[in-house]
This record gives sequence, C-alpha cells and structure tokens, in this order.
Amino acid sequence: MDKENEYKIRAARKDEHIKLFMKSRTPKENGFHDIVLQNNAVPEIDFNSINTDCVFLDKVIDMPIMINATTGGTEYTYDINRQLAMLAKACNIPMAVGSQTIAIQDKSTQESFKIVREINQSGIIIANVSANSSLENVCEAVDMIAADAIQLHLNAAQEICMREGDRNFKKLLNNIKNIVHEVKLPVIVKEVGCGISYETARKLHNVGIKYIDTGGKGGTNFIDIENSRNQESDYSFLKHWGIPTALSLLECKQVSRDLHVICSGGITKAEEIVKAITMGAALTGISGIILRELLEQGYDAAKASMEKQKYQMKVFMFLLGAENIEKLSKTNYLIKGELLQLYKQKFL
Ligand SMILES: Cc1cc2nc3c(=O)[nH]c(=O)nc-3n(C[C@H](O)[C@H](O)[C@H](O)COP(=O)(O)O)c2cc1C
Repeated sequence: MDKENEYKIRAARKDEHIKLFMKSRTPKENGFHDIVLQNNAVPEIDFNSINTDCVFLDKVIDMPIMINATTGGTEYTYDINRQLAMLAKACNIPMAVGSQTIAIQDKSTQESFKIVREINQSGIIIANVSANSSLENVCEAVDMIAADAIQLHLNAAQEICMREGDRNFKKLLNNIKNIVHEVKLPVIVKEVGCGISYETARKLHNVGIKYIDTGGKGGTNFIDIENSRNQESDYSFLKHWGIPTALSLLECKQVSRDLHVICSGGITKAEEIVKAITMGAALTGISGIILRELLEQGYDAAKASMEKQKYQMKVFMFLLGAENIEKLSKTNYLIKGELLQLYKQKFL
C-alpha cells in the first residue's frame, strides 16, 4: 500500500473509532463488583481535611486519575484533543494523546497533537504509539508534544479484527526492550481493553518496564468497534475476550513492588477508582466515559463530572477512614465471587 493510501485509511479510522465508540454500549465486565470495601464506623478524620493529591512521574496531581489515550490526527479530533487538554489542565491530572503514528506519517496532522501541549504547558502529557514502533518513531512522538512519558500500546486482539491490521508481533518484546533502553523517559506499556496478565507483566518487567497500564476488559471494546468496521469478516466470536480489569490489576501487582500499575478499562465511577487504589494501583485511567461526556454534553458537563468524581472519592475515603491517597492505598479490601476463584487458581 502506498503512503498516501495508508494515511487516508488511518485518518478515516480515527474518526470512525470515535463515531463507532459513541454508538457502542458495553456490559460492565471489569470485575470490580467482586471487590468489597468495608465501612469504617470510627473514621477518626475530618471530612474537610481529606486530600486526593498524589504524585505521578514526580509531579503533584489533584487526584489519581488520568485521561487515557483516545485520539488525534484529523480536524475532527483536533478539537477533541483541545478540550481534553483543557480538562486535564483544569483538573491538574495527566493526559495521554491517541496514537501518533498518523502524525509521524503525515506531518500536516501534527497540530492535532501539539495543541495538547500548547494548552497545558506544565501538566503531564504522555505520548502514544504502538509497541511495534521503531525507536525513531517513538522519539518523534515524544518530541512532537514534549512528552513527560511514552505509552506503547499492545492491541493484538484489535489488530486481528482489522482488515488492515498487523499480524506479526514476533519481535515485540525485543522491540520494547530496546525502546526502554534507549528512551530516557518513563515508558508505559498499555493494553487497550483486553488486559495484561501476570505472565505478560513479568515478561515486560524483565525487559525493564516499570509502568504498566492494565487496559483491561470491561469498558471500551475495540473488538466490537473493529468488527463493525470490518465488512469482510466477522469477529463477534471474540466479543468477550480479555482479562477483566480488576483481575489484571491483581495479577500485575503480583510482579514486583517497583512496578507502577495504572488501572484502566471500564473505570467510570469513583467507587472503582477508590477500589483500584486500595488494590495497589498507582493511578487509574479513563477514556470512554470522559469522551462520551464531552461529546454528548459538552466541556462544562465533563468538567463538572470530574469534580463530582473527586467529591465522591472523598466520600468513600471518609467512610474508609483514609484522609489521603497513601492511607487509602493501605486500606484493606476483600475479594469475592468469580474474581476470587480466578485469583485463587493462580496465586493462593
Ligand atoms: C475512541 C477511542 C480511541 C482510542 N485510541 C487509542 C489509541 O490511539 N491508543 C491507545 O493506546 N489507546 C486508545 N484507546 C484505548 C484507551 O486508551 C483505553 O485503553 C481503553 O479505551 C479502555 O479504557 P476505557 O474503558 O476507559 O475506555 C482508545 C479509546 C477510545 C474510546
């Protein structure tokens, strides 16, 4: 395929992803319903002193949430990135841009990514490319937005459902190893909705990865999205494929104390954010929910929704007796049901 055609397909795909995502409705399969938090009837804290600040990538942020990778690369997505960057800045939380490969291939689309750094000059901005990318492309993505870190996405299930998708990941781990070695910024490896197992996380940690984003099952479903783009083949048999987010988090946390786990995949509620932090997540990532709110209800409503999440987090922290994120991360939790069964089979 020539370069021009490849760019056109990629650009059409970006806009289609948003449109198909907006039509999609996925069942809550993220596993957090099997995590139980217990009321602390003697909290011994003052609600007004509860603080959701935490440190990520050496910067203080206002709450343990990041706006995860979604988009960029077209006129339509320029404005989405602009508004997401405003939101990240107003809430003082990190933001990752969508895959920048399109802007590496066609420089005229770079503005749709650069706008994020223009709007939010001192916040945490994270670059994003496929884990199969060359070192040169990784560096270009980082430089394009003066990124604080780079996300390398893993999306084998998504690619297999795409007519034009990658089929060869033979040298993937070695490529990641080389990138971690050469790039002087934190490298985050993330899934996009099918989750990361203990075995995968261990392999990644062994090649030097210190940040993993679970990107678990239970939220945005790229198998469904790609399947509706694919007129030739039907991949609906993969609809329920993937590791639920809560299980993926439990698994990644078994690997090493120095592995920072970002928990994402179907996180939509303050209760899930609080649960993820008690389970050891360094941060949570949201994509679908914030994109939907922004596009359906506008910027002010999306901002109000982030403020509501923060207030509700504080309410849960109050009822757990945790006045800050560090104390929250040391709060006990219980596991029940199917999640416990699955977890037990591997670790107990
Ligand atoms: C419209 C859309 C586009 C996305 N594009 C990317 C992308 O370019 N790169 C990436 O790593 N993840 C991408 N994602 C995946 C998200 O970063 C995230 O891993 C996934 O949606 C699960 O989180 P959620 O359930 O909160 O949406 C995209 C998600 C959406 C909704």
